[in-house]
Amino acid sequence: AAFPIGVATAAGDDPKSILKSDKVQELVKQHFNQITAENIMKPQYLQPTEGSFYFEQADALIDFAESNDISVHGHTLVWHHQSPQWMQDCATVAECTNFMEDHITTVVQHFAPKIDTWDVVNEAFHEDGSYRNQQKDWEGGSFWYQMLGESYIATAFKAARAADDDIELYYNDFNIEMNGAKLEAVLDMVKGFQADSTPIDGIGFQMHIKSDFPSLENITSALEKAVATGLKVKITELDIRINEGAKSSVLTTQLAESQKQRYKEVIDAYLEVVPAAQRGGVSVWGVKDSDSWIIDLYGNIDWPLLFDNDLNQKPALEGVAEALAAD
Ligand code: G3I
Repeated sequence: AAFPIGVATAAGDDPKSILKSDKVQELVKQHFNQITAENIMKPQYLQPTEGSFYFEQADALIDFAESNDISVHGHTLVWHHQSPQWMQDCATVAECTNFMEDHITTVVQHFAPKIDTWDVVNEAFHEDGSYRNQQKDWEGGSFWYQMLGESYIATAFKAARAADDDIELYYNDFNIEMNGAKLEAVLDMVKGFQADSTPIDGIGFQMHIKSDFPSLENITSALEKAVATGLKVKITELDIRINEGAKSSVLTTQLAESQKQRYKEVIDAYLEVVPAAQRGGVSVWGVKDSDSWIIDLYGNIDWPLLFDNDLNQKPALEGVAEALAAD
């Protein structure tokens, strides 16, 4: 494909690190041309204590990618989650702004020119479309918003652009393929940015979805709205759950087949709706099923990804391949 087909990989100390498995490396080289670090480029990992940056693990991952002609999508510069405690404890507007700008500048410049697309801000909105602020039900609050108000997002994008004007800057969020209120909030933010020339290049749809929800119409119309902004549109963290409620204890042929169709229809929709010039690419959130964060989250077995626990390809991979071949 003429655009990135990516996969999130564990790295660093993680026992599932791609750098600890030749087999995973071979498979990633064979099927993907981009990787996203699943965790190790988040603020908590890169700047565990104030002013002490820790780049070794990320650099090792980038070396692997570079020597195999694989690009790296940066994830993520600013997030309310997985930020080090010292950063979360910033106490004044000036200090918080300084922590944020300094982190962004140092990280972007360290990785330039090896990383040319970044998730600048991740998950800034609640499900109801308000800016993520206080804890709401299962949705965490954002210390960035609490300290700086909504302008922290524009501040982050400006700092990223100032650090390197060759990189593409993404806003990344989940459920925007199915939640109209949340998507509208993101689109309003984008319009505001475009109106006052705040830099932004792309919208990332995480797309942690199920085989039967949301509807394809919903996904298609959400992608269309994002395309209408003129920005790049990227599917950043695709995975497809097929076993909500733990109805099955094994991956049946029927489940695997419905998942294949679902992967195919989602990527078909992406290719149909997003013109070539606006394609930021499609990435799946993990290599093999047992790596997936879904298992930890829901506490029951599921098989959301393209490879099984023995790294055999699943029908889902054929679904992806069929969609890409038809383009
Ligand atoms: O590194 C520690 C390890 O030392 C410790 O023994 C172990 C015990 O639980 O935890 C390890 O850290 C875990 C880390 O993943 C690495 O495995 C954290 O507890 C765990 O919370 C963390 O989960 C990650 C999650 O983000 C955190 O919110 C998932 O791997 C990662 O897939 C997930 O990714 C997010 C994206 O960044 C943003 N979009 C949603 C997506 C899924 O939640």
